[in-house]
Amino acid sequence: MPAETSLDDAPAGAAVPAEAVAPLMRGITVLNRLTEAGGTLSPSGLERATGLARATVDRITATLARMGYVRLDGRDVVLAPRLMELGNAYLAALRLPDLLAARADALADELDESVSLAVGDRDGIRFIHQATRRRAMSLSFRIGDLLPAERTAPGPLFASEWTEEDWRGWRARRAADPEDRGFPAVPPRERGGTDGEFEARAAQARSDGWALDDELIEAGLVAVSVPVRDPATGRIACVASVVSHTSRHTAADLRDTLLPRLRSAVADMERALRDAPAARPAPGPQPSGLAAWTGASKQELGREFVESLARGLTVLTAFGEGRAALTLTEVARATGLARATARRALITYEHLGLVVSGPRPAAEPRPAGIPHRVFVLTPRVLSLGFPLLSRTSLPRIAGPHLADLAARVHESASLAVLTGDEIQYTARAAADRVMSVDITVGTRLPAAATSLGRVLLADPETTARGYALLDEEWEEGLRSIAVPVHDRTGRVVAAANVALHAARRTAEECVRDILPELRATAGRIEGEMAVAGRFVRVALH
Ligand code: PHB
Repeated sequence: MPAETSLDDAPAGAAVPAEAVAPLMRGITVLNRLTEAGGTLSPSGLERATGLARATVDRITATLARMGYVRLDGRDVVLAPRLMELGNAYLAALRLPDLLAARADALADELDESVSLAVGDRDGIRFIHQATRRRAMSLSFRIGDLLPAERTAPGPLFASEWTEEDWRGWRARRAADPEDRGFPAVPPRERGGTDGEFEARAAQARSDGWALDDELIEAGLVAVSVPVRDPATGRIACVASVVSHTSRHTAADLRDTLLPRLRSAVADMERALRDAPAARPAPGPQPSGLAAWTGASKQELGREFVESLARGLTVLTAFGEGRAALTLTEVARATGLARATARRALITYEHLGLVVSGPRPAAEPRPAGIPHRVFVLTPRVLSLGFPLLSRTSLPRIAGPHLADLAARVHESASLAVLTGDEIQYTARAAADRVMSVDITVGTRLPAAATSLGRVLLADPETTARGYALLDEEWEEGLRSIAVPVHDRTGRVVAAANVALHAARRTAEECVRDILPELRATAGRIEGEMAVAGRFVRVALH
């Protein structure tokens, strides 16, 4: 089908390599169109947005759903939190958020202004960390958002390292997209600065070692930026910015009052990079587990499972902390894929601008006799739904899982957090029964009188058993069973329960029939929260 073969989300017009994996390209296109649509599309909407045939859309979404990257919500296809593992692979491999985020957060607290870290991404800048103040008058960007370099403070600093080719690419983009429509995170450009202005700002930034954004993105938004240099190469690793609003600081004011403090924080960041211990290679995907998973998926979904798409996507998760630059052999070993399969996936990603290859960096050991060409993820990996999904919360993550649970056990399911000596319901799925327990999100109850509260109060008996079962608590004839929900560090941050009228099941039946389902649900919520919370603070309510 011609519409399908011409599908190409490559950044700049290069011809599709003959070895590119077409289903992998289609899968990435589906993720891109879903991202552009705000995270949700109907299958027919996806058909229109991608130009793919309906049967193809269905097979791709079934495969992505199997991977946990999308969810099928009634008729709609919805991006799901587990997709963030792709952006996580990039951020973990980069290491800068792990090494610098705490310092950026401390600076934001000290100045009571937002602080961000950004990397260069072709002719744009992309955020890798945000320490955001919540204020009425502030537009805040998310991790993974891409901004046009010329409308930011970090942009001229990155541009001071651009090659002639980079500048040509930038001029071509400006000519082709004068209103910045290709940058959905920023409002359209109204008054266009000239190309010469940005060139002058880049030259100035090179000699000053800092740069300003004086309301370039929108009225009121000002920022001052300083580059954080890689101690090994002297090149810019990322740029740290303090962002404010003209109601608090003018741009000149930022430079005069906050730049000195930003510079000393950056010096401290550079020391942290110099003194960083060697990256500990995090465990990658388990090749044998992947093979078993692929086999089971084929069994279960049959033709609906697009194996080359699933295999190709696991290639991105081969990267991570201590696995930033991988040879083809290393990628094949980490994923359990045949070299030829891994190679074709890498060629596809290189074409799409998600991976670049080059000689192994001098700073890394070069074992004799091993080819030195390595593959590295690019910041563009963050464009795969990451900014959108990073604005999630525990109740939003839990919602679909509670709904599944309620549908399976035909009883209502809830999530709650502890506030003082009360619990507060934060998510809820009603049972498909006429007579169901009637509580709404936001309801507060005394913690000690509920199964949710018993779990959250870490009542020793309850903690030992791993669940709380309560009869006739706040309402006569009500029985409920609750389990803890942990964050990625193992801390109990919420509790999930199933509540029912006591006449429907005995206490023993609750433990036998409902507890395993409830625990599986809590495990799924915890799994998604661990992925979402790796680099982003997930709100608990
Ligand atoms: C931000 O972190 O939100 C930010 C940084 C630099 C800018 C604009 C915004 O120039």
